[in-house]
Amino acid sequence: MDASAPLLLFDSGVGGLSVLAALRAALPAAPVIYAADNGGLPYGPKSEAEVAARVCGLLGRMSERYRPRLICIACNTASTIALGMVRDVLAVPIVGTVPAIKPAAALTRCGVIGLLGTAATIRQGYVDRLEAEFAGGKRLLRFAAGELVGAAEAKLRGQPVDPAVCARAAAGLRGSPDGEQIDTVVLACTHFPLLLGELQQAFGPQVQFVDGAAGIARRITHLTQGQDFVRTRPDFALFTRDDPDLAALAPALARYGLERMEAL
Ligand code: DGL
Repeated sequence: MDASAPLLLFDSGVGGLSVLAALRAALPAAPVIYAADNGGLPYGPKSEAEVAARVCGLLGRMSERYRPRLICIACNTASTIALGMVRDVLAVPIVGTVPAIKPAAALTRCGVIGLLGTAATIRQGYVDRLEAEFAGGKRLLRFAAGELVGAAEAKLRGQPVDPAVCARAAAGLRGSPDGEQIDTVVLACTHFPLLLGELQQAFGPQVQFVDGAAGIARRITHLTQGQDFVRTRPDFALFTRDDPDLAALAPALARYGLERMEAL
């Protein structure tokens, strides 16, 4: 194993930075490429076929060009749709990000769990299977909160977050049958932990939030155990489209240790 071979984190946008934060804490020496398919953002309203085609095609190109030692799909939408397909076609270890229903089921006291994800994620059979396996005997209420994706993207570009956006997500879950009982909310989109403070404000202090980032960092640490890490060049962010507003992301990317931007 080449010690400078990077870990490649992939998302449609900046959401995967919530996973990168946990990964940095676990493996500070690991060289990282953060890849955002901003040309395809948002994935949530897209069809399964469209998301699968983009994710398989882009990860194929990126792994040929950058030879990562491991790829983390730091996106619930892409993982719940395309994880199996990507594993079938690439000979690199792939770690996915899937809704943290198991830890939420262990944490809930009243047995009613909310799940916020994109429209595409909440309809996936993958989520049905996680629910059946880990949340038997509990109530799992799902709500598509795609507008939080745009709010998180704007926040990381230094723009204010409209509290009404988070209030609508809270109202969407609270308004479902038994929704007023929810004590635990799964943030099943990697963009959403970037709005944790705003969501806590909207839901109130009695609700706890769960996401998969720490578990993913543990999994990557396990899979790379015994491997050496050498950073031979600064970590960077890779974008699939050269948008004029990317410059506004530079300060946020720097906070995550991503010192440069490149185009695919
Ligand atoms: N960050 C992605 C997720 O975890 C999705 C955002 C989007 O592109 O809609 O689902």
